[in-house]
Amino acid sequence: MEILHSISDVKKYVKRFKSEGLTIGLVPTMGYLHEGHKSLIEKASSENDRVIVSDFVNPIQFGPNEDLDVYPRDLEHDAKLSESAGASILFNPEPSEMYFDDAVTFVNSSEITDVLCGARRPGHFRGVCTVVTKLFNIACPDKAYFGEKDAQQLAVIKRMVRDLNFDIEIVGCPIIREEDGLAKSSRNTYLSPEERKAATVLSRSLNNAREILKTGERDADKIIKAITLDIEKEPLAKIDYVEVVDSLSLKSVSKIEKSVLIPIAVYIGKIRLIDNFTFNI
Ligand code: PAF
Repeated sequence: MEILHSISDVKKYVKRFKSEGLTIGLVPTMGYLHEGHKSLIEKASSENDRVIVSDFVNPIQFGPNEDLDVYPRDLEHDAKLSESAGASILFNPEPSEMYFDDAVTFVNSSEITDVLCGARRPGHFRGVCTVVTKLFNIACPDKAYFGEKDAQQLAVIKRMVRDLNFDIEIVGCPIIREEDGLAKSSRNTYLSPEERKAATVLSRSLNNAREILKTGERDADKIIKAITLDIEKEPLAKIDYVEVVDSLSLKSVSKIEKSVLIPIAVYIGKIRLIDNFTFNI
């Protein structure tokens, strides 16, 4: 596996892969890789001849009061994990390599980014769509892999690929969880031992909601109420949002009649965690 820092070096490899008729899978990440990322890289390796993993903490998707400066990084660990999962290239650029100081062109999406995390993190999805577009142009992948934990991100990128006619298949991969149910996330490392225990309330509340749906309940407000009550029992937890939305448009639904996404965002202490599940009728 090669560790590359410049766009031109990645493009040289991509040109060679394409001239040899090889397919390319891209796994965009912000590094500090865990089992969730590993599952994406392994899936990409099983479906493509070559896999490029990007490892870039993208400054333009962080808000002014977010955790850009303290976001965890460990390139050596990321390289080992990527190589063992079958990657051919780990692309780790500096921000100055990715962004011109005087850049004026960004990729924006609307409506689907005005809800859920997009409503609470202004500019976040503009940053995500811009960097993902740039990575698509650099790596020219046949397929790109994203985790279902960031359900809104996955929906936004699928829309962007459709709207802008990218010839790339977007593959969503299941959430990977700790044994106690907590969805794997690089941000879990910020949790104190007490907060780490409290954080299991996210998956527990969603599991209970799934059971209620299985009994035939179709009133979205009742599902939201059940999740809210569960989370409120945990003293360290503070709800940011609990919603029931259409899986594709991410618009709120009141009666559950087709596939819905049930996403939640919860602060455990100062750490904001997200989780979700999709319920198909
Ligand atoms: O999901 C992430 O880690 C990031 O949002 C992504 C897709 C790598 C873009 O920076």
